[in-house]
This record gives sequence, C-alpha cells and structure tokens, in this order.
Amino acid sequence: MPPLRGFLRSSATSNDPLKRHRTVTDPVLVPGLAGIPAAKSSISFIDGSAGILAYRGHRIETLAEHSNFEETCFLILEGRLPNREELQTLRSDLASRRGIADSVVQTLGSLPKNGHPMNGLQVGLATFGMTRPKVDVKDPASVREAVLCLIAATPTIIATLERLRRGEDYLAPPADANTAGAFLHMLNGEAPSAIAERTLDCCLVLHAEHTMNASTFAARVVASTEAGPYTVASSAVGALYGPLHGGANERVLEALESIGGAVNVPDWYAQKRASGGKVMGFGHRVYKTKDPRAHTIQRLAGELFEAHGSTPIYDTALALEKAVVEDLGDKGIHPNVDFFSGIVYQKLGIPTDVFTPIFALARMVGWMAHYEEQHQDNRIFRPAQIYTGAHDAPWVALEDR
Ligand code: COA
Repeated sequence: MPPLRGFLRSSATSNDPLKRHRTVTDPVLVPGLAGIPAAKSSISFIDGSAGILAYRGHRIETLAEHSNFEETCFLILEGRLPNREELQTLRSDLASRRGIADSVVQTLGSLPKNGHPMNGLQVGLATFGMTRPKVDVKDPASVREAVLCLIAATPTIIATLERLRRGEDYLAPPADANTAGAFLHMLNGEAPSAIAERTLDCCLVLHAEHTMNASTFAARVVASTEAGPYTVASSAVGALYGPLHGGANERVLEALESIGGAVNVPDWYAQKRASGGKVMGFGHRVYKTKDPRAHTIQRLAGELFEAHGSTPIYDTALALEKAVVEDLGDKGIHPNVDFFSGIVYQKLGIPTDVFTPIFALARMVGWMAHYEEQHQDNRIFRPAQIYTGAHDAPWVALEDR
C-alpha cells in the first residue's frame, strides 16, 4: 500500500451516504504537503541538508561548469547526455522553432503595457498554443514536437513582450544563436558579448529543473487531466509567479535597492525582523543549507563584475547574507537561488520584472520533462480534503431570511 494511503484512516460502517461522512476518522493534514511524495520521478534529486542538486544523476556544479542549456535540455528530456550529433540536432531543432506567428505578436502587442510580463507570458503561451497543430497527448512524438516548440519559443515571447511594451517592433529570432544568445539578442536588438551570453546560459542551466516544487506540481496536476503542453506551460507560469516561488528574485532586488547600501543593512534587518516579515531570497522548503545554485551564481557574478565592473548592490547583498545567516542560520535559513540571480540579471541589463519570466524560460524544460513523465503512468490528481464546514444545514426559504 502506498504510504499516502496511511493518512486516510476510515472507520466508516454506515451505508447511508449522509451519515458516512461523520464516521470517517479525520485524515491527517500536512500543510503544504511538506514531505508527501506526489509522484515517482527520475528527473532530478535534492539532498537538502547536504546542499546537493543533480539532474539525472549529474551534479549541478558539474553541469554549470561543463554543460550548456541545450545539452542540459537533452539530458533532462532524454535522461542521458547527448553525443555531438544529437546535441547539434537539438540545437537546430530549437533554432528552427523559435519564431512566433503574427497573431501571437499582435496579441502580445494588445496587452496593457503596465501589466506584469508573467501575466503576458501566460497569455503568450496560451495564444502560441492556439496557433500550433492540435497535440495528441497519447502520442509521444506529437507531445515532443510541442515540447520543443515551447522551449524554443518562450524566449521569443518574453523578448517580444518586452520590446513591444518599450514601443519597439518585433524582432525575429537570429537564425543560428543558442537559447541564451537568441534571447539577449532579441531583447536588446544586438548580439550579446560572449561573457553575457555565457552568464545567462549558465543561469538557465541552474534554473532548468528542481524536483517537485509548486510550479512543477501545478504542471503535473494540469498534465494529469490530459490537457496539452501549451495549457500546462501557461498554468505552471501562473504558479511560478508568486513571491514565495519564482517571484522572489524580483522582490530581492527591490529590497536590496530600498536598503540603500551595506551600511544600512543592520537597521533594515532589525526592522524587518521586528515586523515579522520574511527576507526574500532566503529559506527553502528543502535546502537547510546554502542553495548550491547560489554558490554558482555568486561565482558567475564575480566573473561578470571583473569584466563589466562591480555593482554596489552586491555589497549590500553580502552584508544582508551575513546578517540573516548569523541570526537564522541555525534554523536552516540561508540564501536560495533567487538571492543572487537578480543581481546578475540586472548587470546584464535585464529589467527587474523580466527576472521571473527568465526563470520560466529555463524551467520550461523541467516542466515539460515532468509532463512527459506524468504521462508514462498517468492518473488524474484528486487529493482529499478535510471538510470543516456545516452538515445538515436547514433550508430557509428566501423570503424568510
Ligand atoms: N526570512 C525570515 N524567516 C524565514 C524565512 C525568510 N526568508 N524563510 C523562513 N523563515 C522562517 C519562518 O518565519 C518560520 O519561522 P518560525 O518557525 O519561527 O515560524 C520558519 O523559518 C519556517 O518557515 P516556513 O515559511 O514555514 O518554511 P516553508 O518551508 O513553508 O517555506 C519558503 C519556504 C521558501 C516559502 C520560505 O523560506 C520563504 O518564504 N522564503 C522567502 C521567499 C523566497 O525567497 N522564495 C524563493 C524560494 S526558492
């Protein structure tokens, strides 16, 4: 019997359905489903106390150093590293699928300019799906085609949203660039420097997959209904948007800017703690030590600052990390991936509210791998609830209320 069943102990004996609910022993509620497995998965692995993250058995530090986003996509989707020819095929498969139809560009252009790009991305992905051939969710080849289109075109949708809201025109994706290069090129209207491209490429590797987090769970729940990949992608973007999940990177930068310098950190932090607020970019449901991705992003930041000059906000970040870890480190509160990513993105010239869409761009790979995995042995998600409302409520006619 699966362990989850143990949570639902029933002592029901009555055949009367109206009485039976009163004889069921209350199941145990685990808030946030913390620690409850929702699926078996071979895609990624985390050891939260040792600070380990691996995709298909490959440690994230190794991938960040030696791999690139396209190779990591192959690894996550196929479960193994590609040979040279397979990697080249995936690169050209993605490059040839980056374009979006005029109707998608028009829809993106019609959205309110002051709305958040994560909402725009949800609309963009759903609209993009409407321009694509219908997906047969029972046919792995049909699903894989949609998966490749989503991974390839998400950068185009995000860059186009940004260009259109700045009053610029749609820029077609460059023919032979990799994902990071194509995205930065479309965003800024010119090919990026080698270090900018490599930095973003590495950030995409770091964000590509992360076990059963909220947006991945959302993706699997929607996938379990046999909805197609475009609908699943748009739903997962909605789940990622929240400040407790992907939206934290944007909030981190806002907080660091509002602190106004490393010297102000002690006062700012004391006030934050006194108000009971959480410090964005710290803490994690699984990691009880510093997020391994945060170490790598710090290394990338160092390289970027060497090439393009440092930023005072980084000193504020280091002072804040010291203050938080001194105070809460014993409780397992350390920087997570979002703490340093915004600093790097800002240095790359990316607007603050585009940080979370970039997270989505990378995580699309993980969501889609989970989509395919969910369909290998699908059963629609239908958890239980603990009903806390009234029973046998008396009916009072409208005129008597
Ligand atoms: N700042 C200050 N205290 C924090 C904290 C933070 N960022 N994150 C957790 N804590 C504290 C909580 O106040 C709580 O303290 P208590 O036991 O005294 O009540 C304890 O640590 C456990 O926190 P909780 O929110 O229950 O943990 P969780 O596993 O449900 O949540 C997060 C994990 C990520 C949602 C949470 O750490 C958080 O909100 N972090 C800030 C947002 C963020 O950076 N999100 C990106 C995650 S990659």
